[in-house]
Amino acid sequence: MKSSLALSLACFIPGALSVNGISTDPTIFGNAFNFWEKLSSGWDLTRGDSSGAITLPMPENGPIIIQPNKTALVIIDMQNFFLHESLNGDPKGRAIVPATVNLINAFRAAKMPVVWTNWGLTEFDLINMPPAFINGFTSTSSSQSSFGSDMGSIVVPASDNSIPATSTTHGPNVTIAVGRKLVRGTWNAQPWGALFEEQVSGVAKGTDFYFNKNRLSGMWGPGTPMQTWLQDNSMTTLFFGGVNIDQCVWGTLLDSYYKGYDVILVDDVSATTSPIGATQMVDFNAGLNGWRANSTDFISALKSAASHKE
Ligand SMILES: *[C@@H]1O[C@H](CO)[C@@H](O)[C@H](O)[C@H]1NC(C)=O
Ligand SMILES: *[C@@H]1O[C@H](CO)[C@@H](O)[C@H](O)[C@H]1NC(C)=O
Ligand SMILES: *[C@@H]1O[C@H](CO)[C@@H](O)[C@H](O)[C@H]1NC(C)=O
Repeated sequence: MKSSLALSLACFIPGALSVNGISTDPTIFGNAFNFWEKLSSGWDLTRGDSSGAITLPMPENGPIIIQPNKTALVIIDMQNFFLHESLNGDPKGRAIVPATVNLINAFRAAKMPVVWTNWGLTEFDLINMPPAFINGFTSTSSSQSSFGSDMGSIVVPASDNSIPATSTTHGPNVTIAVGRKLVRGTWNAQPWGALFEEQVSGVAKGTDFYFNKNRLSGMWGPGTPMQTWLQDNSMTTLFFGGVNIDQCVWGTLLDSYYKGYDVILVDDVSATTSPIGATQMVDFNAGLNGWRANSTDFISALKSAASHKE
């Protein structure tokens, strides 16, 4: 039995016989189930499944070769609560939406999944929320102004593309019920502007997947809906964008890195309200944990791979 196990592992790992499942080939990093191959230039992240693989340039430590059906784009917290004009949302977050939509479309065209993970609390989450989180999300000094509090209503011009399709209000301005703060299914928890339509239609078509989260990270603890999906679908390689780069994006990226996923931070589809030092810290460490790039570095390679698939 032992020798056939060694033989089957040797088949999985290119280049060399393995000892206890670990390859003796110095260009193989990892075990038979989770490994990278170091190339003369860059890295092969396909774990031996090179069919349909795509080579993407990276500004540093690249290029990387990815397996499209093991690679996802993760978009984090691009929600009305953090971005909408009427809620004092971040203009820098709104400014990355066009680049985000382009990257989403490039992933879809290359048949790679788009994963949305957003705050979307249940009553159970509200009951079990730790004090530091409740305090972090108050709008006054009262605990009653935190998660789950009624955010009242706002009036937006009829041109606002965050208006729910179910709205029956007529006239130049539309009143929107903002809903309870970051509670699942509310208007404030849904993606901002054009991203809402992208998310809804992507999920309906099966190219996109939506996961509620109840902390900054969508990957914390022993498991989350997002992690279960990644495992069930054999994902290995994750690109990240959203807001805030140093909070929910960083939290989700770091937990994914801890759990063994390949992590690539996409700078130009990420933003934050924090001081510049926060982004510099994230950029520095993302480069150590995996890769950091702008979508403009690799989107043409994605598009060209997609056009060869048609
Ligand atoms: C991944 O894609 C390749 C072709 O590009 C295919 O051979 C393989 O079966 C796919 N794997 C899964 C799990 O869909
Ligand atoms: C619509 O909103 C704008 C901007 O807040 C305001 O100037 C205008 O008076 C409103 N129009 C109506 C009919 O309420
Ligand atoms: C992305 O582009 C910006 C603006 O040109 C630049 O400052 C930043 O360093 C780039 N990020 C990467 C990872 O190259």
